[in-house]
Amino acid sequence: MKVRTLYSEKDIAERVKQLGEMISRDYQGKSLTVIALLNGALPFTADLIRHISIPVYLDSFASSSYVNDSSSKELTVRSRLKEPITGKHILLVDDILDTGHSLAACVEYFRKMEPASIKTCVFLDKELNISKPVKADYIGCKVENLYVVGYGLDSHELYRNLPFVGVVEND
Ligand code: IMP
Ligand code: MG
Repeated sequence: MKVRTLYSEKDIAERVKQLGEMISRDYQGKSLTVIALLNGALPFTADLIRHISIPVYLDSFASSSYVNDSSSKELTVRSRLKEPITGKHILLVDDILDTGHSLAACVEYFRKMEPASIKTCVFLDKELNISKPVKADYIGCKVENLYVVGYGLDSHELYRNLPFVGVVEND
């Protein structure tokens, strides 16, 4: 198996730095609770927070989402946050926005906890011909409708450790 590179380690580093700087400007004078959506967002979140210059509280959240028979989304929560987020500025970080169902379900879940604000940041936004239930406030890069791996993204739990994003190809 070979992985064809779409975004190199250097491309990723440059873009993540820009995102961190943008977030720091937008939240100037405030502090921010960054919640990494496990496991995919781990490498991205680790890089992103090192480019955020305002005070950051780091947390993580494990969940999975699926669309039930009546086409509404259900969230299976597999972890708890360390601290209550009521009245806090929240940034949810994920690896990729595909259909958007998982992120929409997470936003809905956290909104019930009445944070001061809630925004979302994804490294990749997949270009699909559908309207998504949520838009990300911060997007690293657009990617065409392909199954991508690396930089946190897996295929059957493999490839998350690749420092670049690519597509698996047969030799
Ligand atoms: P969504 O709910 O359809 O937006 O799916 C989001 C989740 O599916 C992401 O957080 C990823 O974990 C996973 N996912 C979607 N597309 C890909 C892909 O191309 N490669 C790896 N994982 C993906
Ligand atoms: Mg995910």
